[in-house]
Amino acid sequence: MPRINSPSELEKLREEIKGKRDPNKPCITLCSGTACQASDSESVSQAFERELKRQGLEGEIDLRRTGCHGFCERGPLVVIYPEEICYTKVKPEDALEIVQSVREKKVVDCLLYTDPVTGARIKREPEIPFYENQQRIVFGPNRWIDPKNIEDYLFLGGYRALSKALFEMSPEQVLEEIKKANLRGRGGGGFPAGRKWEETKKTSREPKYVIVNCDEGDPGAYMDRSLMEGNPHSVLEGLIIGAYAIGSHEGFVYVRQEYPLAVENLEIALKQAEEYGFLGENILGSEFSFRVKIHRGAGAFVSGESSALMNAIEGRLGEPRMKYIHTAVSGIKDRPSCLNNVETWATVPLIINKGAEWFNSIGTDKSKGTKIFSLVGKVNNTGLVEVPMGMTLRQIIYDIGGGIAKGKKFKGVQTGGPSGGIIPEQYLDTPVDFDELTKLGSIMGSGGMVVMDENTCMVDTARYFINFCCEESCGKCIPCREGLRLLREILNDICEGKGKENDIELIEDIAETMRDASLCALGTTAANPVLTTLKYFGDEYETHIKEKRCPAKFCKNLIDYWIDSEKCQACMICLRNCPTEAIQGGKNLLHWIVQEKCIKCGICYEVCPPRFGAVVKLSGEPVPPPPAPGTEVVRKEGG
Ligand SMILES: Cc1cc2nc3c(=O)[nH]c(=O)nc-3n(C[C@H](O)[C@H](O)[C@H](O)COP(=O)(O)O)c2cc1C
Ligand code: FES
Repeated sequence: MPRINSPSELEKLREEIKGKRDPNKPCITLCSGTACQASDSESVSQAFERELKRQGLEGEIDLRRTGCHGFCERGPLVVIYPEEICYTKVKPEDALEIVQSVREKKVVDCLLYTDPVTGARIKREPEIPFYENQQRIVFGPNRWIDPKNIEDYLFLGGYRALSKALFEMSPEQVLEEIKKANLRGRGGGGFPAGRKWEETKKTSREPKYVIVNCDEGDPGAYMDRSLMEGNPHSVLEGLIIGAYAIGSHEGFVYVRQEYPLAVENLEIALKQAEEYGFLGENILGSEFSFRVKIHRGAGAFVSGESSALMNAIEGRLGEPRMKYIHTAVSGIKDRPSCLNNVETWATVPLIINKGAEWFNSIGTDKSKGTKIFSLVGKVNNTGLVEVPMGMTLRQIIYDIGGGIAKGKKFKGVQTGGPSGGIIPEQYLDTPVDFDELTKLGSIMGSGGMVVMDENTCMVDTARYFINFCCEESCGKCIPCREGLRLLREILNDICEGKGKENDIELIEDIAETMRDASLCALGTTAANPVLTTLKYFGDEYETHIKEKRCPAKFCKNLIDYWIDSEKCQACMICLRNCPTEAIQGGKNLLHWIVQEKCIKCGICYEVCPPRFGAVVKLSGEPVPPPPAPGTEVVRKEGG
C-alpha cells in the first residue's frame, strides 16, 4: 500500500474503499473478542468459512471477524448485515442454517435473543434492551470493524480527525478544543485531559512523551482490553492527535502481557498505520513526525499507577514514587510525560471530528460524554455498556442489566474497582458521574461495576478487596503494606467469628493512617470498600462481631447446614453429592448431616430440588438434633 501524503489522498482512498463495498451485500459478522473466543468463536468462524465455500457463496456473502460487542455473556455473537439480525450463543453446527437463512433472507428464530422478562424474541441487535438504552459513541464501532483490517476503520471515517488536526488546526487549537470539551480522564481520577496536556506542553524540556495506559488491573474490568482489541486505530489516532497538540514525537502503549489479543491487534495496527503514513516521518505529508513503541507490562495492579508505569517503561521495577512533581512535568527519564487511559485517547478523535460543543451536549454539568462500564456480578445481562454520564445506577442495572439474576433482591453495587466503594439500595437513583459517586464515598474509577444480591456478605466483600490490594501492594511504603496486612487480619477474624469489640475503631484508625500517609493512590484509597461497607452496612459488622452470625449466611465459619426432616423426601441427591460423605440416611430413610464431617461446601444446599427445599442454612442458631437413625420418610404428593 503506497503512503498517503495529503488529506485529499486520504479522502480519495476512502472513496475507493467505499466504492468496493456494496451496502446491500449480506455480511455475516462474528465477534472474535477474547470472551467470545473463550466460548469457541474460532470454531464458529471456521464453520462459516467452510459453509460459505461449500455452498459456493464466498463472493456473495462477506464474513467479518469483529471486536467485542459488549454482550459477551451471550457470545459467540453473530450479527447479519444489513438487517442487523443478532444471533446469540452460536455454535459451529448453526453455521449451515445461518448461511441458508442469509441466502433466503430468512431468520433463524431459535438463535435470536429472548427477553427474560417478556419472553419475546428480538430480531435486531439495536432493539435488544441491553443495547437499546446505551449510547455507544466510543465502543459502538467495535461491532463493524475487523481490527486487523485498517480499511474497516478508514471506511467509517478513521484518521479524518488526525487529518483535520494536522491540516486545519494548530496544536494550540487542538488543545483548546480538548479543554473546551471538558474531557476528563477515564482511567480513574477523572483529571481534565486538556489541563494535563497543557502541563506537558508548557514544560520546556525535551523530548516529551505521550503514553497510553492499558494496564487495567481492576478485577472484573475489561473495557480497555476490548477497546484495544476491537478498535486499536481509534486509540492510536487519539494518541497521535494528542502528541501533535503537546509537541511530542515519541509515544508508548503500555499494555499488560496477559492481553495477548490486544497486543497482537495493536502490533498489526501500528504496522498498518506506519505503512499508510499515519505514523512515522511527516505524517500524511505534514511537518509532524511521531513514533510509537509497545511496552508489555507484567500485569501488576500497582503498575497502572502513573509513576510506577513510567518506571516500568524505563525498565525499572513498576513501583510508584512520590509525586511532588507531576509525571506530566517529569516522567519517563525525567522528561514531561502525558499519560492517559485507553478510553480517554479513543474519545479524542470524536471530539476533533464533531467538536467540543457536541461533546458537551452529552453528560452532566461537570462530567461530559459517555463512559464504558464493565457491568458484572448478579445481574441478568452482564457485559460492557457505554452510557451517557448521568444515567442512574438503577437505569444501568435494571434497564440495561435486566435486573438482579434469579429474581433475588439488590443489595449493593461496587463501583470503581478495588479503590471504589459499595453503594446501597437507597442511592440507586444517583446519576453516575465522577462527582456524584465521590459524594457517596465511592468513585467511578475506570468503570468496574459489580452488582451484589441479598446473598452477598458485605464484610466478606470488603475482605475480598482488601485481600486483593494486600497482594497487589508493592510494599514500598509502610502505611499501605502494613495497614493492608492488618486490615486483612481483622476482617479475616470477623468473618471467622473471632471479631472483637474494638475492631471497628481499629479499622477506622488504620484506614485514616493509610489515607493520610501512603505513597500512592493504591494505599490512600484501598480502605474505601471497608469504609463504605461500614458506613452503609455497619449492622452486618456488628452482627458478625457481637452475635457471631453472618446475616447473609455466607461466611463459612458462621454457618451450618441442616436437613429439615419435615421437608426431606429421601431423594438421595444430597447424599450422593456430598464430597465428605457427611450425609447419612438412605432410600426412604430421612437424611441428616453429621456436623463434624461437614466442610460447609454448600453442595447439598445447591442440589436439593427447590420443590423440597429441605437443606437449610443456619447462622447464629443451634443446629436441631438429627432424626433417629432409620426413620422412614413421610412422602408428600409429588415427592
Ligand atoms: C494502583 C493504581 C492503579 C491504576 N491502574 C490504572 C489502569 O490500569 N489504567 C489506567 O488508565 N489508569 C490507572 N490508574 C490511574 C493512573 O495513575 C492515571 O491516573 C491514569 O492512567 C491517567 O489517565 P486518565 O487521566 O486518562 O484517566 C491507576 C492508579 C492507581 C493508583
Ligand atoms: S467478546 Fe464477543 S461480545 Fe464481548
